[in-house]
Amino acid sequence: MFEDFREYSVAEFFKKNRHMLGFSGKIKSMTTIIHELVTNALDACEEAQILPDIRVEISQVDVDKYKVVVSDNGPGIPKELLGKVFGQLLAGTKFHKYKQQRGQQGIGAAGVAMYAKLTTGLPLHIISAHEGKLVSADITVDIQKNQPLITNLIEDEADFHGTIVEGVFGDVKVDKSEYSVLEYIKRTAIANPHASFELVINGEQYSFPRTSDKVPPPPKEVKPHPLGVLTYELIELAKRSTSKTLKRFFVETFERFSTAKVQELEKLVNVDLNKSPKELTWQEAEDLVKAIRSMQWMAPRKDVVYPIGEDQIKGSLEAILKPEIVITRTRDPKIYRGGIPYVVEVGIAYGGNFKGSIMRFANRVPLLFDSSACAITKAVKSIDWKRYGIKDFDNEPVLALVSLNSVFVPYVSAGKTAISQEEEIVQEIKNALMEAARKIKIHINKKIRSRELEKKKSALMRYVNYLSHDISYLSGYPPEPLKENLERIIKEKYSL
Ligand SMILES: Nc1ncnc2c1ncn2[C@@H]1O[C@H](COP(=O)(O)OP(=O)(O)O)[C@@H](O)[C@H]1O
Ligand SMILES: [Mg+2]
Repeated sequence: MFEDFREYSVAEFFKKNRHMLGFSGKIKSMTTIIHELVTNALDACEEAQILPDIRVEISQVDVDKYKVVVSDNGPGIPKELLGKVFGQLLAGTKFHKYKQQRGQQGIGAAGVAMYAKLTTGLPLHIISAHEGKLVSADITVDIQKNQPLITNLIEDEADFHGTIVEGVFGDVKVDKSEYSVLEYIKRTAIANPHASFELVINGEQYSFPRTSDKVPPPPKEVKPHPLGVLTYELIELAKRSTSKTLKRFFVETFERFSTAKVQELEKLVNVDLNKSPKELTWQEAEDLVKAIRSMQWMAPRKDVVYPIGEDQIKGSLEAILKPEIVITRTRDPKIYRGGIPYVVEVGIAYGGNFKGSIMRFANRVPLLFDSSACAITKAVKSIDWKRYGIKDFDNEPVLALVSLNSVFVPYVSAGKTAISQEEEIVQEIKNALMEAARKIKIHINKKIRSRELEKKKSALMRYVNYLSHDISYLSGYPPEPLKENLERIIKEKYSL
């Protein structure tokens, strides 16, 4: 049996398990391709403080086969890294950073290249302009080795900056459903009002101009807070650490871990904190985590999470949905699992050409799949909407947008399609929604009252003619001024 024993690369693993990267089903696979390329463009622009102009063009070339071109005006990618970005899984600048970004694992771009290769055999064609240098190349993943394969490399000078990714993909499709690219880009535009998007699907053009000129601040990196750490994470952090001793490791790795705190910890556990972090065992890590939990800690920094902003959400919902009213609410930063800061934002739109929808976002990325597993869906569904004048959420013109922003979003899986239903997060989302819903209720009540008044008013108006004639006959006054006065009185009394 051991004759067949062999090692395989992470690329081979993801080739077999491509559903983990979002490549399952034709519609979802196409949305995943666009999602990976667009989030990279947005992340890069944010880091470089550029107002993003993003263009996505999709054209059908055969049955279930499409050409995709995504271009951005970001900083571009240096030549030395181009191969790794698109030709090697688990390579990138964001891995293991506690930072509010869209990408995390360094598998997006190369995952897209791999999907092209698996479905059409073709490499991606990349053009990148970075710091005055233009590079174009065909890049794909050598799946056995998880290494980039680069061909047709051409270099030149550039008087612009940005990245263009072109690829041909099989086993993909676009349509007008809520799971497809149009909806994805529309929602991305809502959560990124500072970005402008051009989308062309088989010649049909859609534009989503920016509604704000404010680039979100570049994401700040934070160290993890001791209260947030789990045993296996502690082991992983320790293994990767370059600190000489466990004592130094705690001070250097975590936020709020002073030498005084290390001394306090030392008294609580039976672990030699002078040894190398690389020698930390599972049992010791478990004891340390338990002891850390029993200590008093300064709260984590909260100024590292950037919400979209109430005005920005309102502006983009109004621009894209044209509703009667939008109420937005950005809550103050909160902490979950004792150590991870996050901010919940909501917007409720009411009245218009939509009904009973939920829009979910995590760090400005729309979540279209696995709705039922998501903390946001759970919170929206658990609200008694009748109390807020909405008798039947699914069938009334109401839309609830919820956005969770955090340096670490607890996704349910590597596919990052839904937020796990942690109790504190669900409750926080509920609180935000109820605050906004109270104002929606005031609007709805006003609407009902003004409709009733309108009815009464028009009923009375019908009698004004008769009445003014009769009063004129009885009193001898001319009928016209009587009529005008009566109309004025009714209007005054029966309007809000
Ligand atoms: N359009 C782009 N512009 C600039 N840099 C990019 C772009 N796309 C990808 N990158 C770089 O390539 C890296 C790998 O991207 P990706 O595989 O999607 O992983 P992740 O986004 O999780 O880091 C990113 O971390 C970033 O440094
Ligand atoms: Mg990415």
